[in-house]
Amino acid sequence: MFFKRIALIIAVEDEAKPIIEGLGLSHKGKLLSPLPMEFYEGRHNSLNIDLVTSGKCDRFNVDNVGPQAAILNTATTIGRLQPDLIINPGTAGGFVSVGASIGDVYLSYPMICYHDRRIPIPGFDAYGIGSYYCFDTRGIAEEFGLKTGIISTGSSLDYTDKDLELIKSYGGVVKEMEAASIAWVADLYKIPFFAVKSITDLVDNFTPTEEEYLRNLTSASMALSREVVRIIKYFAQ
Ligand code: ADE
Repeated sequence: MFFKRIALIIAVEDEAKPIIEGLGLSHKGKLLSPLPMEFYEGRHNSLNIDLVTSGKCDRFNVDNVGPQAAILNTATTIGRLQPDLIINPGTAGGFVSVGASIGDVYLSYPMICYHDRRIPIPGFDAYGIGSYYCFDTRGIAEEFGLKTGIISTGSSLDYTDKDLELIKSYGGVVKEMEAASIAWVADLYKIPFFAVKSITDLVDNFTPTEEEYLRNLTSASMALSREVVRIIKYFAQ
């Protein structure tokens, strides 16, 4: 498939930095003032590459992580830049029970769901889970030896028993905080979308998620950057 303009949408600045360096992108300032999104751009052969982070929250001085900022970022990026493919690189939790290890990189396929939008009313229950289909990443996964799986999005770094029950019910293998929101907006505009997620922590072990996440953030971000750069070069051929 031939794409001319790819947008990379990323929540966490520390996860974006190695990708920005790896692709040689330049910082262009805020995507649309007064919104906090930071815009970077570059080219590879004839492919335009835009990267937009969700920026910092002024009030709490942290990255704008989670579903709300991801929706605002995606809608603004589409409005301003009109990409023909959207990719969401990031880090995530994996599951020992399905053979995940720290530093594994997964591509979303076949879909992305929400695990903490529980609305037990007929019709709304399925709407809450979302089940957004994404770009068929199986060829790329095979080319680069990456895993594929159902990604599950929620607003929290930790989890409740109910979250885990729901993730298990639809066969989710990656837990993170943005992909389903980006998938929703991309689907509204019929723009193909997929997520690339590097595993920083294992949800079903006994170490607190935040400890494992912080310990492995740098190495997982390097693994993420390596694969994203390869994927971009694959589309730029
Ligand atoms: N980002 C990295 N690890 C995560 C986890 N376990 N849950 C949600 N977001 C994450």
